Amino acid sequence: MTLQQRVALVTGASAGIGLAIAEHLVKAGARVVVNARRAERLDALAARLGPDRAAAAAGDAADPAALTAALDLARSRFGADADLVVINAGRGLAGSAITSDPAQWGEMVRTNLLGVAHLIRQSAQRMLAMAQAPAGPEGPWRSRPRDIVVIGSVVGRHVSPFSSMYGSTKFAVHGLVEGARRELAPSGVRVTLIEPGFVASEFQGVAGYKEEWFRSILERIGPVLEPADVARAVVFAASQPAHVHVGDVLLRPVRQDYP
Ligand SMILES: NC(=O)c1ccc[n+]([C@@H]2O[C@H](COP(=O)([O-])OP(=O)(O)OC[C@H]3O[C@@H](n4cnc5c(N)ncnc54)[C@H](OP(=O)(O)O)[C@@H]3O)[C@@H](O)[C@H]2O)c1
Repeated sequence: MTLQQRVALVTGASAGIGLAIAEHLVKAGARVVVNARRAERLDALAARLGPDRAAAAAGDAADPAALTAALDLARSRFGADADLVVINAGRGLAGSAITSDPAQWGEMVRTNLLGVAHLIRQSAQRMLAMAQAPAGPEGPWRSRPRDIVVIGSVVGRHVSPFSSMYGSTKFAVHGLVEGARRELAPSGVRVTLIEPGFVASEFQGVAGYKEEWFRSILERIGPVLEPADVARAVVFAASQPAHVHVGDVLLRPVRQDYP
């Protein structure tokens, strides 16, 4: 129960990686607000995790007002601001600037980049307010870890021609997160980037990858990661003592050679 004192928010928790993260955080002792757009799935998840451990805040993770409502719910339900915010909501898109569907670019950039920026902004403001005293070697941050964990992608570090429009949003997230890390580190707030390779989830269907293509990936490099593999990395990073920061985690299926 390494996260027993922690209050968390996880975006994109109605499926895949976010759902697994919410389950693992609760198993590690945290109380969790879960967000995504599909309210019925979130309600079922919160009921399964237990009303004393989980609460659902349905809404669009790219909408600043929905993010404020989710953070407020953490405070009102669990009596404290979230000190572990996992920014996971996102979507893929098959293809490059030349081959992907331009009608989907706006929603993807809004969710994958602007939504991440809004939640970094809002959660950082609250986390900074938690420890008003000046930072320093003996600052109040020592007794209370605060984490912003962002789920990027291996294609935000290594260019992949089969998803370069999506990859460009994750490259932007990579830069955004490293900037926030440098900005918030002196105050003891840890900003962590986890960049998975292939994970089996609803992601491939939403992104519009052809089933034969994903099957060929599975045949070449499978087995790919499970959502729980990413969730364990989140728990590992957040469970470190307050003076330790696991800043960047690149997580691939063992046989993934590229990207
Ligand atoms: N799967 C992979 O291979 C892979 C690899 C590297 C990184 N990632 C990243 O991991 C994250 C999670 O992906 P996944 O594999 O778990 O995909 P997934 O199974 O499709 O789940 C995506 C989650 O995000 C939510 N979501 C999407 N847009 C949202 C929005 N505007 N507001 C609120 N929630 C939203 C979805 O819920 P609703 O539809 O209910 O809103 C769902 O819960 C994404 O950031 C993705 O880019 C995935």
